[in-house]
Amino acid sequence: MALSIVILAAGQGTRMLSHRPKVLHELAGRPLLQHVYDAARALAPARVVVVYGHGGELVRQRCSQIKAHWVEQPQQLGSGHAVRQALPHIPEQDLVLVLCGDVPLITAATLERLIAAAGDSGFGLLTVTLDNPSGYGRILRDAQREVIGIVEERDATPEQRMIKEINTGLMAVSVRWLREWLGRVGNDNAQGEYYLTDIVAVAVADGHSVSTVSPDSEVEVRGVNDRAQLAELESHVRARQARSLMLQGLALIDPARFDCRGELTFGTDCVVDINVILEGAVRFGNGVRVGANTVIRDSELGDDVVILPNCIIEDSSISRRSQVGPFARLRPQTKLHEDVRIGNFVEIKKSDIASGTKINHLSYVGDTQVGKNVNIGAGTIVCNYDGANKHRTVIGDGVFVGSDTQLVAPVLVGEGATIGAGTTVTKDVPPGVLAISRTPQSTIPSWQRPQKKKEK
Ligand code: UD1
Ligand code: CA
Repeated sequence: MALSIVILAAGQGTRMLSHRPKVLHELAGRPLLQHVYDAARALAPARVVVVYGHGGELVRQRCSQIKAHWVEQPQQLGSGHAVRQALPHIPEQDLVLVLCGDVPLITAATLERLIAAAGDSGFGLLTVTLDNPSGYGRILRDAQREVIGIVEERDATPEQRMIKEINTGLMAVSVRWLREWLGRVGNDNAQGEYYLTDIVAVAVADGHSVSTVSPDSEVEVRGVNDRAQLAELESHVRARQARSLMLQGLALIDPARFDCRGELTFGTDCVVDINVILEGAVRFGNGVRVGANTVIRDSELGDDVVILPNCIIEDSSISRRSQVGPFARLRPQTKLHEDVRIGNFVEIKKSDIASGTKINHLSYVGDTQVGKNVNIGAGTIVCNYDGANKHRTVIGDGVFVGSDTQLVAPVLVGEGATIGAGTTVTKDVPPGVLAISRTPQSTIPSWQRPQKKKEK
């Protein structure tokens, strides 16, 4: 039997109280739907069908990497109705695995067991026993412990609400039966919806039995219906990531104050201080040290790089032994070669800074190529933007740029040149010279400071 996976993602997510479709809310930096899709894809199914509805176009746009048949459920008439929209896209012989776009931590291993259970009876249901089952549909069993139905909490009697075995919303059923049973599900319930869960009672009435399996861990099946549940899952993923990284050798000063929302690879003896956030693909060499309160996204840090506290580093590459911060910002396409120093309140954008160069205080360097062993003094600004276009600046090896210099791009400063403090560089500077533009200083010996007027 070929495997088709249906991901239900049309629900409005009313309890999020958000304009954003629920499946686009992010967990560990990725939309909920993306997590579910990744688990689905790990099973190498013949096809994936995503049923979308609320905020449809936005969902398709944001999740454009998802290779699936996108099927619209124009009106959200219930989870059973949603599955029915997917059926025309599924061949007659397939086994259908139904996943929920708001149950993001499900693993492929659990799903494989669910599929195996469906192989035995034709109907596999993923259930779990919870200390606090509130909010979930309850599993009804007869005296022989056979499953006979699912009752939603809203429709349950007080006795049924005492049941602790709950429906995770995930099931595997052969498409033939799914079609047949869904056709017989009505909407006579508290919400007036066509519940997917009602196919259990229909199947049992037909004499079918239902096999149940449980997930390896209860968090796998936790649904996200409100922001509190989302935050709980986020903290779970955060703790799990931190633990796994520590066991691979990363030193975290406090794992509870560390967020890895992407993929980190690292060498030996890297140390990360508190309140560091890593996003996207981040690579550390050996001996990297990251100070407190830093955000690093899609960047590469070579051996023995030191990031002092309070930096923001994005889409940048920093080579061996370079040091950045405190309070520095590296914007996209920044490349620092070896032994570079970037100090406080320095912003670098789309620039290549060669080895041994220092930009230590209060500067902006954008669209610039800086040579080796250059010293850029405090308060140097590269004026790269004329209000319409960006222009490039090139600074040769061994240049000394005095403090409070403006380099009005496009401009070229030749190798070994010196720029006097306070200069506005508007023309190319030849190699080896001193360039200076400074109004001569004058003194007025008789000058009196203004006095504050006396109030009457
Ligand atoms: C559902 C189950 C409940 C289970 C719980 C587990 C039903 C009727 N109830 O409840 O037994 O314990 O999940 O998390 O299925 N959806 C659509 N179109 C619709 C309605 C829903 O695509 O018209 C999708 C939602 O996007 C979601 C899934 O179906 O992915 C479940 O819907 P939701 O409203 O979240 O149901 P729960 O109340 O969580
Ligand atoms: Ca739900």
